[in-house]
Amino acid sequence: MFEVYRRWHDDSDDDSLDQNHHRFQQRYDFRTYRQYFGTAADQGTLSVSQVSNIVRANFGQLTPENSMKWDSTEGSQNSFSFSGADYLVNFAQTNGKLVRGHTLVWHSQLPQWVKNIGSASTLTTVIQNHAKTIVTRYKGKFFHYDVVNEMFNEDGTVRSSVFSNVLGTTFVDIAFKAARDADSAAKLYINDYNLDSVNSKVNGLVNLVNSKRADGVAIHGIGTQAHLNAGGAGGVQAALQKLATAADEVCVHEVSRASSNDYLTVVNACLNTPNALVWGVSDKDSWRSGQNPLLFDGNYNAKAAYNAIINAL
Ligand code: XIL
Repeated sequence: MFEVYRRWHDDSDDDSLDQNHHRFQQRYDFRTYRQYFGTAADQGTLSVSQVSNIVRANFGQLTPENSMKWDSTEGSQNSFSFSGADYLVNFAQTNGKLVRGHTLVWHSQLPQWVKNIGSASTLTTVIQNHAKTIVTRYKGKFFHYDVVNEMFNEDGTVRSSVFSNVLGTTFVDIAFKAARDADSAAKLYINDYNLDSVNSKVNGLVNLVNSKRADGVAIHGIGTQAHLNAGGAGGVQAALQKLATAADEVCVHEVSRASSNDYLTVVNACLNTPNALVWGVSDKDSWRSGQNPLLFDGNYNAKAAYNAIINAL
């Protein structure tokens, strides 16, 4: 897995990024696939000892489940709050975990004051300030950022949001540039869901990433959320291959709701991709807890899917 990851980076035409990233690789000693396996958490879940123990023992990466979203970090204009994100970052650093930032520009969990903006120049400045302030605060601590999240409709067209309505797709350029300027070492991602087979949404995303990269926008990676329905993993491998034609890296992010076999299929598909991150630890704390989507049950016991993955790694 490490070799696959390295090869993709070595294909990148940006040597300084490669060097910085190799520094991360050395610091965290990426030698086993398990270290590419992450989960989402925040202060609430990490304060539960069963959860923090599972995270320490089993996962190499952490993503803030909610604490870095716009409504958590900048609920009022230019008034930033970092307590939740700081908690997660401190936990990650204390325990030697990588951190993946999530997420800078997303139509959801977005405060009303942003949604009300009608001026292109104001919204541009607001995106720049938001991205710059957050990425600068954690400069050197995050190895990945989800810069833009869920900007596509199922048919591959661009979703209506304040960002696209006011700025067209240039909001993508603005956000990635601001993030890149603030931390040139972090790998910057565009992230979406329902990319679980080669479909219209996958094609729309691939076309956009190709065209933005041709214009010099530093989109390094594509994240695919893989909130699967049971039995829904069969097309994942082909979709990952298609996504990988457009970016340096593809990250399977936010995996949940999969059956034991689906988890295994996804992990095996990841033999051609660098990264997998499940969306939480225990079914008890999941945003979709009714569907028992995760690798540990409500009593924090490992489920069959967990054991299947560990055997596969
Ligand atoms: C979810 C969180 O898990 C919930 O706690 C919250 O109430 C809603 O958001 N796609 C994403 C994630 O990119 O940020 C979402 O996380 C799940 C769907």
